[in-house]
Amino acid sequence: MRIVSVVGTRPQLIKAAALGPALRAVHEEVFVDTGQHYDEAMAGAFFAELSLPQPDHALGVGGGSHAEQTARMLLALEPVLLAERPDAVLVYGDTNSTLAGALTAAKLGIPVAHVEAGLRSFDRRMPEELNRVVADHLARWLFAPTPAAVANLAAEGVTEGVLQVGDLMADLASRIGREVRDPAALAEVAARLRLALAPGGYAFATVHRAENRDPDAMRAWARILEDAAATRPVVLALHPGTRAALEGAGVALDPRVRVVPPQGYRTTLTLQLHAAAVLTDSGGVQREAAWLRTPCLVLRDRTEWVEAVAESGGRMVVVGLDRARAAAELARLAPPADAPRLAVERAAGFDLPPAGAGEAIAAALAEGQAKDRPAR
Ligand code: UD1
Ligand code: UDP
Repeated sequence: MRIVSVVGTRPQLIKAAALGPALRAVHEEVFVDTGQHYDEAMAGAFFAELSLPQPDHALGVGGGSHAEQTARMLLALEPVLLAERPDAVLVYGDTNSTLAGALTAAKLGIPVAHVEAGLRSFDRRMPEELNRVVADHLARWLFAPTPAAVANLAAEGVTEGVLQVGDLMADLASRIGREVRDPAALAEVAARLRLALAPGGYAFATVHRAENRDPDAMRAWARILEDAAATRPVVLALHPGTRAALEGAGVALDPRVRVVPPQGYRTTLTLQLHAAAVLTDSGGVQREAAWLRTPCLVLRDRTEWVEAVAESGGRMVVVGLDRARAAAELARLAPPADAPRLAVERAAGFDLPPAGAGEAIAAALAEGQAKDRPAR
């Protein structure tokens, strides 16, 4: 098949790197980057690091309000799809680039494949939830990562074209995790960042969701990070949008929170694997912490990755912005006296099997799985 895949954000570049080799072994891929993320550290650096092909079409859409950003994507994508005339358009996840790719294709009558279909937080105030619901209901192929995702689709009456394929990002985490499980990988990262980081002696954090850029929310998570930093350094890899929001609202972070720019994929996985704990509102980082078995506080009220929490054996806790709960859970999950030993044992024993999601997706597209399902 001739498949246009549409990416635009950091996690989509990472997912495209996980799927690309399997997809291109069987299909012809036309790679389209909306440019939703555009900083070198948010986008450009991943091309070299993860051996991504240069985009066939770079749309350079950039930021803006949801309407502006999505509208620019629709306008830019339509002529590309008309010219490329693909058999399918493949979109990943739940960003505005996902929405725009799915909507433009569906309006042109081009079948849509949605990777990470069926996830639901059941909170429609989250922009991601709106994007996922629309993409799922437009898709002909719905590649669900988890049983809960399949069940969510069934509850909405969507059963045709649904295939549980596992989680693409686990394929990449499996491979790169093995490469960085030696503590020497952490020493290398620490030297580059000029930070003193020993296994289990620090916490790793990321915060970027829209709901956590509200001034009150920023003050609340800043306090959670401050509490965590009282025990051990906290390394915060800061998304540029969050940085701008903090500056705009005049919210300062405790100096013991070591703010670093967005990091590469391998560095981020290294920092998670060897940490005492991870604090995050990221969908991707929370799953990676689960696969790496690193204790994780989820700085959101709810998560669509319910299995990651349920199967964590209590290591992953959705604490929202509850300061007392976050402090208590961190003390329970990563007591300073035990955290270094636990981190060393965890890294040494890392052995995540690949999910095989990439091959399953490529094969399902080749077999014309669900080919009779009308585009909706
Ligand atoms: C987007 C996705 C979110 C995903 C996240 C991954 C939507 C609605 N949200 O959120 O689901 O979890 O990507 O990281 O699609 N910015 C820069 N440089 C960049 C990128 C962004 O400075 O390279 C700043 C800009 O001020 C921009 C803001 O961040 O306006 C928000 O960026 P945007 O792409 O709109 O949303 P994210 O918050 O990144
Ligand atoms: N990530 C990264 N550098 C960072 C922070 C995150 O490479 O500084 C990776 C992370 O390991 C995961 C992905 O980006 O693979 C998650 O993307 P993000 O948190 O931006 O978005 P979400 O998953 O919440 O949509």
